[in-house]
Amino acid sequence: MRELAAPAVQLTDLRLMRGGRVVLDDINLVVPRGSVTAVLGPSGSGKSTMLAALTGELAPSAGSVELFGQPVPQDRRALLELRKQLGVLLQGNGLLTDLTAADNVALPLQAHTDLPAPVIERLVAMKLHAVGLRNAANLFPRELSGGMARRVALARAIALDPPLMIYDEPLTGLDPIASGVIMSLIARLNATLGLTSIIVSHHVHETLPITDQAVVIADGRIVFTGTPAELQASDDPFVRQFLDGAPDGPIPFDAAARPVAA
Ligand SMILES: Nc1ncnc2c1ncn2[C@@H]1O[C@H](COP(=O)(O)OP(=O)(O)O)[C@@H](O)[C@H]1O
Ligand SMILES: [Mg+2]
Repeated sequence: MRELAAPAVQLTDLRLMRGGRVVLDDINLVVPRGSVTAVLGPSGSGKSTMLAALTGELAPSAGSVELFGQPVPQDRRALLELRKQLGVLLQGNGLLTDLTAADNVALPLQAHTDLPAPVIERLVAMKLHAVGLRNAANLFPRELSGGMARRVALARAIALDPPLMIYDEPLTGLDPIASGVIMSLIARLNATLGLTSIIVSHHVHETLPITDQAVVIADGRIVFTGTPAELQASDDPFVRQFLDGAPDGPIPFDAAARPVAA
């Protein structure tokens, strides 16, 4: 019963290191089931690093990462099992160029289920329909616009009906119209499929409208957690500099250039 009540994600006193350096420290975060949480922060602040801890790609140096009440496992087999529960949309789409949109979406179903081909075909059609691309099934990635390709990648990410979706910079390279389409799609899928979503982004203004909880990371820590309205009203200097895009402030211009943490 405890697991039923557990939040989708719980990070407790988490420290993450890369290349011998502390990237994130003292991270505490609860992502309630059903919510959309935006993780915002300047480039190099550690957003993708946080996601790597959720997928089990990066083990915590301290603290814990729990998904639906279960610690993220470290052994390979358990990790593969966990990843079926995670829909991940990475920056580069990762579509295979030699396969049609439909065949790209079918990949996880073929790899992780024993479903017969006609059933997979039906499921693929449903997933493409869910992202508004039923008629693009037979197109190859080179025949898709940037926004359409991102939606095919999204259809593939939801192919196995994962309860938790993770989006890393889902708007990168998209024009404002395609960005709006992707954002409303993310919100709609979250609501209609009963998902929990975490969106990592530096596009504050596009992301906040569909967000229940906003988190800002800067200088290796969480500097803000709250609603979008609370974020807009914040007078924290890190938050203000990030929101207002000010070049001078507590966040170094090149976050990666700051001195090595102790
Ligand atoms: N594989 C890696 N090895 C060493 N350092 C890394 C690695 N990946 C990221 N970093 C460093 O960790 C910091 C955070 O990176 P990242 O999480 O990718 O930031 P963001 O996604 O917010 O742009 C950066 O300083 C980056 O240079
Ligand atoms: Mg990143």
